[in-house]
Amino acid sequence: MDVGFSRQEQEEMLSLVASLLESGYLMWGDMQDQLSAGFRELTGREHAVTLNSNTSIQEIVFAHLQPERVAFIGNQFPSPIFAAMRQGAKPTWVDIDPLTMAPSVEQLAAALPFQVLVLQETAGFVPRNIKEIAQWCRDAGVFLLEDAAQCVGAVGGDGPAGSVGGCGVFSLSGTKPMTSGGQGGMLVTDDAELAQFVFEMKNYGRTGMFQAGVFARRGWNVHMTELQAAIGVVALRHLAERTAERATFAAVYDDAFAGRLQMCGGRAGSPTWYKYPVLLPGGRTRASLREALAAEQIELSSSVYDEPSYMLPCFDGAFSDLVLPGVEEFCERHACLPCHHKMNVDDANRVVGAVGSWLGQP
Ligand SMILES: Cc1ncc(COP(=O)(O)O)c(C=O)c1O
Repeated sequence: MDVGFSRQEQEEMLSLVASLLESGYLMWGDMQDQLSAGFRELTGREHAVTLNSNTSIQEIVFAHLQPERVAFIGNQFPSPIFAAMRQGAKPTWVDIDPLTMAPSVEQLAAALPFQVLVLQETAGFVPRNIKEIAQWCRDAGVFLLEDAAQCVGAVGGDGPAGSVGGCGVFSLSGTKPMTSGGQGGMLVTDDAELAQFVFEMKNYGRTGMFQAGVFARRGWNVHMTELQAAIGVVALRHLAERTAERATFAAVYDDAFAGRLQMCGGRAGSPTWYKYPVLLPGGRTRASLREALAAEQIELSSSVYDEPSYMLPCFDGAFSDLVLPGVEEFCERHACLPCHHKMNVDDANRVVGAVGSWLGQP
């Protein structure tokens, strides 16, 4: 992901920020209201709450639900796992299908018991089987948290990212498909009690903003600021055109590599194309592709992820006996081709040429 804004976006942002600086309303006000309204519209959810990050939202959700065990796919970005553990939960690991990048309901059942499923929507794709997963969660009494960090604006075969399950949690950090000025997060849910809990916990535990309300809980200070929200409001206005740009490059790759590479994620709905993940042919390594592309001044996007999360050094070997074949195959075999708004179609074709020659080599 290469981030940054167009001249037009910059001008709109600067003008909004200037009016905020003039008004002095920097902590709470219309910008966050507008951004929340935008996300309610995007997802069809009744409530949308702004915070400083996806990680703090997930931690507050865990504080609310108090689960004993939280399930994560084995290649989950780790900060939500840390958040669950800080709230006293044990992580449980779920395998995935390397092509869809999502678990099947059989893989979920194999990981029981757990009370919360964090479903990472890897690379900007809403899982093809999300409806089935949501139904399975309802039947099993599991709270489904869509970790839509990479998925702002994505639409799956069954509806927008963030619209399914107990809640959806977006990241608006600076590397994501849409940012609110470098950091930010958004909770979307139909659960009024959860939305109010998240609001109070981000707001020092107070039931109302500023002098209003009472300190009902021992809360945190994990607000988004109005300056961040102003950047987000403009970014949201331009989200569809940004996604469409990346979709153009993805279409170039789809055409060029059909039958030669296995494209991950499926093609139902419209992903964010946060990444363009493919499975490399057996026996060929990401390192060798990276090297071949570097010789042409082309950089692969970072992977999602190079190694299973349960092998990370921060877990001190606690899960090192675990083997999840689908996760391990995905981590080993996938590569993410460049797909970001600072490219143009010529760049995408240059990538096609370089990857094509690498594929043609023995
Ligand atoms: C899937 C996933 N979940 C959570 C996060 C954390 O988001 P934030 O930086 O907003 O806390 C990220 C960020 O990279 C992510 O990709």
